[in-house]
Amino acid sequence: MATSFSYDVLIIGGGAAGLTLALNLDASLRIAMISKAALTEASTYYAQGGVAAVVDASDSVDSHVSDTLVAGADLCHEDVVTHTVAHGPEAIDWLLAQGVQFTLDDSDHLHLTREGGHSHRRIIHAADTTGQAISKTLIERVLACAHIDLLESRIAVDVIIDDHARAAGAYVLNKDSGEVETFNARFVALATGGASKAYQYTCNPDVATGDGIAMAWRAGCRVANMEFNQFHPTSLYHPSAKNFLITEAMRGEGAVLRLPDGERFMPRFDARAELAPRDIVARAIDFEMKRLGLRHVWLDITHKDPAFITSHFPNIYNTCLAQGIDITKDWIPVVPTAHFTCGGVMVDLHSETDIAHLFAIGETSFTGLHGANRMASNSLLECFVFAMSAAKRIHALLDTPAPPASPPWDASQVGNPDEDVVILHNWDELRRFMWDFVGIVRTTKRLERALHRVELLQAEINEYYSNYHVSSNLLELRNLVLVSELIIRSALARRESRGLHYTLDYPERLASADDTILQPDDAATAH
Ligand code: FAD
Ligand code: SIN
Repeated sequence: MATSFSYDVLIIGGGAAGLTLALNLDASLRIAMISKAALTEASTYYAQGGVAAVVDASDSVDSHVSDTLVAGADLCHEDVVTHTVAHGPEAIDWLLAQGVQFTLDDSDHLHLTREGGHSHRRIIHAADTTGQAISKTLIERVLACAHIDLLESRIAVDVIIDDHARAAGAYVLNKDSGEVETFNARFVALATGGASKAYQYTCNPDVATGDGIAMAWRAGCRVANMEFNQFHPTSLYHPSAKNFLITEAMRGEGAVLRLPDGERFMPRFDARAELAPRDIVARAIDFEMKRLGLRHVWLDITHKDPAFITSHFPNIYNTCLAQGIDITKDWIPVVPTAHFTCGGVMVDLHSETDIAHLFAIGETSFTGLHGANRMASNSLLECFVFAMSAAKRIHALLDTPAPPASPPWDASQVGNPDEDVVILHNWDELRRFMWDFVGIVRTTKRLERALHRVELLQAEINEYYSNYHVSSNLLELRNLVLVSELIIRSALARRESRGLHYTLDYPERLASADDTILQPDDAATAH
């Protein structure tokens, strides 16, 4: 007997976006929140720097808006930026009301740190483990809600669309039993995070495989600005410290970037030096590494008081120490890694996609906030503000009738896979050529090479998907390959360099430009 469930709202993903939506929905609704791994295995949990919001009397919404627009290289939607920034204080109040313990200053006010692109101290944080503080608190709150069922180890395969072209649930692989279950729901929210696992080197956890973007695309939604994948300038370069980020807040508090001979090189690239927006810093590091044949550059905070370093960055201090690096005395070896997907599923101010009753929130969505380069700590802010808006919209739509139950998943025509090595090989191949050909600096020729390879992989994976029982490795690879294709097509469509998209064939920024919008039934079209 096939397993099926019925809920009012199905939330796919349990990071900041999914948790916030769940907690803002009315307690009379039956809610399922599924995640494909433990809830702590999400980008949210690993967030370090903090949440950007205007809470200081000497700061202003105008200033936060203007910094965001500058960092976004003239491609942000100003109305969306204003909407998000204006709701920042409300989001922080809500987090405080949930019990999140942010770091306080000596007067018991929220301590504000600084990051690249911000002209003001406005980053609210919990030392250097902000994501942990937020996740743990929100997860505890969700666990205490009897109307929210939390189901881990469940990976959504595809969204179900009913005869009225509305989202009506999702097919979900139960990773423990191997069964694809049917989740019927009146509303579906994709809160699956980003797609930085498309790249060989990333500071993201393994869950970041772009599943929500791929599911929305297959369901018929438009996606936008996928060419703008952000590379964070400073991940720890160490063979046994996979994925470990060194927060930008460290540069905000005075750390400088150095070459092996000690030269502080960022002032040669930008007047804002280490606090220039991330695209500029990552590109400068990439340039210097290629010019000098380096495996990494150095981040130096040794000039600060050791007590200041250990109290502001305890997690980084301890993690580096475990690798034999005492950051109070030693420079830290750092490299850029794939960090954040600025593009995603197109949504409106309520996080509604092109498909009725289908929402996309958090990193999986494209709201228009980030433009060509996300400013530090604006991502968590976007998760909170848009999840709250989505909850309001769902409440407003509650009088629409529930869809009929959907048919079970049909696995009658497929067999057991006999060559799983194909999947493993294709994972590695994809992530390697995405890094080499679609990375920080691009050319048309490299992008075309990548497109050719991605098409070959797609044919192979689709054949595999049609013939064999699904596994979570296969589902993720299928999604990553699709999202990689969207990244490459978007990059090819943009004939200029702007923000995170830098190509040697079109090194100039055009006087004006628009979003790159891809439509499922069209070829790539830049609008
Ligand atoms: P996530 O937190 O990534 O959660 C995704 C969820 O979806 C997970 O529960 C996952 O299991 C689930 N999921 C995915 N696919 C499926 C599927 N098919 N089926 C079921 N479940 C699925 N931003 C800031 O603003 N400030 C910071 O200080 C900051 N620091 C960062 C540090 C690091 C190391 C990283 C990686 C990112 C950082 N960011 C920061 C970015 C920010 O953390 C993320 O953009 C944000 O947390 C994304 O939240 P989310 O809820 O959209 O997704
Ligand atoms: C960091 O702490 O450097 C990450 C902040 C962000 O991605 O917004």
